[in-house]
Amino acid sequence: MDAPTGSTRVDPLFFRRTMGRFPTGVTVVTTRDATGRPWGMTANSFTSVSLAPPLISLCIDRKAGSFSAFSQCSTFGVSVLGENQQDLAVRFATPLDDKFGGVAKVEERPGAILLSGAAAAFVCTVHTRVDLGDHVMLIGAVEECSLGRSAPLGYCDGSFFSLSGGETPLEDDRPGRQILVGWLVEHEAKILLSRDTATGEWRLPVGPLQGGSTMSDALRSTSHVLMGQVIEPEFLYSAIDISESETCHVYRARPGVLPRQTADLRLFAEEDMPWRELSHSSMESILRRYFEERVSDRFGIYLNLGAAGRIAQIEHEVPWADHAGNYERSAS
Ligand SMILES: Cc1cc2nc3c(=O)[nH]c(=O)nc-3n(C[C@H](O)[C@H](O)[C@H](O)COP(=O)(O)O)c2cc1C
Repeated sequence: MDAPTGSTRVDPLFFRRTMGRFPTGVTVVTTRDATGRPWGMTANSFTSVSLAPPLISLCIDRKAGSFSAFSQCSTFGVSVLGENQQDLAVRFATPLDDKFGGVAKVEERPGAILLSGAAAAFVCTVHTRVDLGDHVMLIGAVEECSLGRSAPLGYCDGSFFSLSGGETPLEDDRPGRQILVGWLVEHEAKILLSRDTATGEWRLPVGPLQGGSTMSDALRSTSHVLMGQVIEPEFLYSAIDISESETCHVYRARPGVLPRQTADLRLFAEEDMPWRELSHSSMESILRRYFEERVSDRFGIYLNLGAAGRIAQIEHEVPWADHAGNYERSAS
């Protein structure tokens, strides 16, 4: 594409559509007016401006119903919505009389109303307001910020999207390692194992990650190659080194329809597990822990990477689990 020349020829609607190609997160920015009435709107113009001092910016449309409140406030709050909060994104993008009715929230300082369960949150005081075209840029000095546990909601091309199923789950900074995908497929308390016909050993279905336009696509293709049908992954359960050069990322799945069982692809209950014929000690650890944890339906991620060969529980929650109001706080 040629470098842009002059802006007057740019159709505003087309400009908006073109900008929509730039993926963003989604925030709800809130404040109170002089009468104490709360105001809030969905905004994806949120961006960081400066690290020291910590500054962020948002652009508020002059036509927005809450414009007057944001043009006079001294404090405001920004909640970065979690992937399960699409309903709030829509609600706060709709001109309603009572946007906050029934919405779980906390208010750290008057005007900085934060929505519970958000992926991240900021309490800001107004640093500067800049008149820019049909918007006003609100620059906020960050007084406090906090991290939630939810994955953030994304927005691109006018649609919301979720990141948690579509990202490489764990990064491996060791060059030259091949990432394999393993499947912990559960059905009625049984786990699907596949047998290596050459050695007779059993293991979770494991194979190289297939191609795909997104990580979710690649995972689905991999499941098809390994088990003859597409299986939707639920979450990453474990990452283990299974050889000198291969690391396996294991996903838990509970498909409605099971892959066709054969002599070499079978479901095993805990008591029938071929423990002594498992291909790798990490497979045994994963399976033993899984059977333990599924009783409470609370899972951690297990890592067994590198020379130490240690299996460590790093988080006793479902990855990306949404926990209303639970923030990991980092005040500036
Ligand atoms: C994903 C998304 C992002 C938005 N981002 C902004 C924004 O950054 N600034 C803005 O003024 N409006 C933005 N809007 C539109 C406002 O949310 C919308 O106009 C809303 O009705 C404003 O609420 P109000 O009229 O009650 O103030 C966005 C809407 C959506 C769906």
